[in-house]
Amino acid sequence: MHIHIVFAFLTTTLISVVLSSPAGLDSSDYNQVILGSSSIARPYQYVDGELPPTNDTEGWIDPRLNGGRLLDFTTKRLGEPLNVIISSLSDPFILSETGLHIYAKSIGFSEECLGLHYGHLHEADLGDGLGRKQEHFLARQHYFPIGGTCWESVRGGHHFRAWRQNGTLANSGAWFIGASKEQDSSKNHKIDEDGYNLGRDYVVDRAVSGSRSNGVWWKAEVEWREGLLQRGRSGVNHAISQDGRVAILTVHRL
Ligand SMILES: *[C@@H]1O[C@H](CO)[C@@H](O)[C@H](O)[C@H]1NC(C)=O
Ligand SMILES: *[C@@H]1O[C@H](CO)[C@@H](O)[C@H](O)[C@H]1NC(C)=O
Repeated sequence: MHIHIVFAFLTTTLISVVLSSPAGLDSSDYNQVILGSSSIARPYQYVDGELPPTNDTEGWIDPRLNGGRLLDFTTKRLGEPLNVIISSLSDPFILSETGLHIYAKSIGFSEECLGLHYGHLHEADLGDGLGRKQEHFLARQHYFPIGGTCWESVRGGHHFRAWRQNGTLANSGAWFIGASKEQDSSKNHKIDEDGYNLGRDYVVDRAVSGSRSNGVWWKAEVEWREGLLQRGRSGVNHAISQDGRVAILTVHRL
């Protein structure tokens, strides 16, 4: 079944978006799901290339089911893609904050430079009833500190921000991660061209290859999801295009 949603903008523009509704959901249910947002002032705006919220997930809950989204809030409107999810089917250690720190280190990130250049904290709405919440964790690619500063900060590199989905409306315990790759600091920490895709793939490649920390080996399985996030640059910070794919990682202890 298809429903047609027509958004009439103040201008003369009319944009018609045709969306597929999942079986068993009639259009009034559907509008409630989409428009029943408690934490976003504007109604959930469907965009071309995004699929309706899904409950076909294990170990995480689609934030869009309750007004959240897979873009963080870097500014009031613009966001960076939450392009990696660590599902709660992962080893329980990884789901703890200490565990994520140690795991992040094992795949090449460290916190040594934390906060040096990031006065600005991002927020995200994971649809868990907590509304927009500040990032719980930021990891940066590991480099040696040189002359009291962080080499990574000079050179640019990979980093990610993480939020735990743990409000009562969606208490999955999964980590939602926005990963990206930056240019060097002369460019004022701008995200690389293609930096969102590159940042995500860096995390996924290392997680899937396997890593080791404190004598424990870790290895992740990945499932790729499309349709959670619109492909392209619309609403994306720095207007940098991304491919809309989200990697769902389940990290196992070997
Ligand atoms: C998922 O959504 C469908 C309707 O789209 C509904 O029939 C089904 O019961 C839901 N499943 C769960 C586990 O909530
Ligand atoms: C959710 O997890 C974060 C990160 O570990 C923690 O700081 C916060 O207190 C937790 N919130 C709830 C409601 O459990």
